[in-house]
Amino acid sequence: MAEKIGKEKRMDKLAVNGGKPSVAKGLIKAWPPIGALDRKLVLESLNSNQHTMGPNYVAFQKEFAKWNGNKYAIFTNSGTAALHMSIVGCGLGAGDHILVPAYSWSSSATCIMHHNCIPVFVDIDFDTMNIDVNKIEAAITPRTRAIIVVHLHGLAVNMDKVMKIARRHKLRVIEDACQAHGALFKGRKVGTLGDCAAFSFNQNKCLCTGEGGMFVTNNKDMFMKAQSLWSFGETRSPIESRDYHAYALGWMYWSNDLVAAFGRAQMSKMDHYFKTQRANGALLIAELKGMPGLILPTEPKGHTHNWYNFTSRIDMKAAKWSGEPQKFRDAVMKALQAEGAPVSVWQNFILPAMTVFQAKNAYGKGCPWECHLTQPVDYNPVKFPVAQRHTDTHFGMTNPLRAPNGKNVVKAVARAFKKVFTQLDQLDVEKILKK
Ligand SMILES: Cc1ncc(COP(=O)(O)O)c(C=O)c1O
Repeated sequence: MAEKIGKEKRMDKLAVNGGKPSVAKGLIKAWPPIGALDRKLVLESLNSNQHTMGPNYVAFQKEFAKWNGNKYAIFTNSGTAALHMSIVGCGLGAGDHILVPAYSWSSSATCIMHHNCIPVFVDIDFDTMNIDVNKIEAAITPRTRAIIVVHLHGLAVNMDKVMKIARRHKLRVIEDACQAHGALFKGRKVGTLGDCAAFSFNQNKCLCTGEGGMFVTNNKDMFMKAQSLWSFGETRSPIESRDYHAYALGWMYWSNDLVAAFGRAQMSKMDHYFKTQRANGALLIAELKGMPGLILPTEPKGHTHNWYNFTSRIDMKAAKWSGEPQKFRDAVMKALQAEGAPVSVWQNFILPAMTVFQAKNAYGKGCPWECHLTQPVDYNPVKFPVAQRHTDTHFGMTNPLRAPNGKNVVKAVARAFKKVFTQLDQLDVEKILKK
């Protein structure tokens, strides 16, 4: 029976303390849903004799470009490859400084070093978890040539503000849309708002091909440069008559027809997936509003979230915890996991604190930071307190909001959150962490 505590009701015994879990085993379905079309297209590709640049490869690029509203799209073997292609597409090179948020996936920043450019970090905004648009200008140096914005967890960055700054300082803008398929800013899709963009299709992403990515742009020159990097530094695409000549430094970033066939099948369900995530995200927010100690993700006016990763933070003061925040966060997470809610930490480190930046050990021998074309940069992690606070207090969740999961799953997960957050005083942190 529930007992009233303040406005909230204390619920049954926590699963971490021996009670019954809130989410039944097997209730949350795995991602992505595989159906008849996936099997048909993949099998047809397998049974064809075109396993590299086959018809699915070409069609997938066209279909993605159409769906997202881009003129050009290049299918890659990862989002990281598409990010590297964005650097090159924008004409960036040795010694150039490129701004990037201090909190993201490592390759949002390491892609910059792939082309001998230098990352310069900008702190994030706590509410949106995205780059703090009000701190961008202070980070611009005489060497700054571009900004990478990351639409983190599926929430678009305020691109009006970013593009205004970029125009004022003549900077290129690359969108890391690896997590943001379908997300909108003022009704426009991410990947159409800057100069070029990268999407990821790894296992966990809103469009999954196992691994993979897409470079997109509306600019022909950027497309040609990115294509050259993608394909051995050649100037002709693999479906044209090639001269097998390396005109520039190139990599081998192709994927293959089988993977493209899987991508096409998943792509055809994208609008349904997006709708499902929107409905599930809205329901979860409505269910959890006002929980003491729980800071829910936001969706500012003009932004349409895709709820890729439903990331919450713990308000340590409201939770009456004065010790190390990570400890309490980890205990809360374990309590949620025991209830059956699949939550996890997304990043344990802010980017500037990672060894590759602290030791500046990228290509060895000081490269690229000691390039004579650049200027020194400072990666002192204390300069990014908001990113650190977020890192220490956050936990995220993906699957329960994805198709085919619906209302019943969201309600069960919401019950798990409510159960834990109404009984934070029942958590024996040290004991839970030892389990
Ligand atoms: C924000 C962000 N950027 C870049 C990447 C890299 O994508 P991939 O793993 O496909 O290379 C990811 C995903 O892992 C990501 O979440």
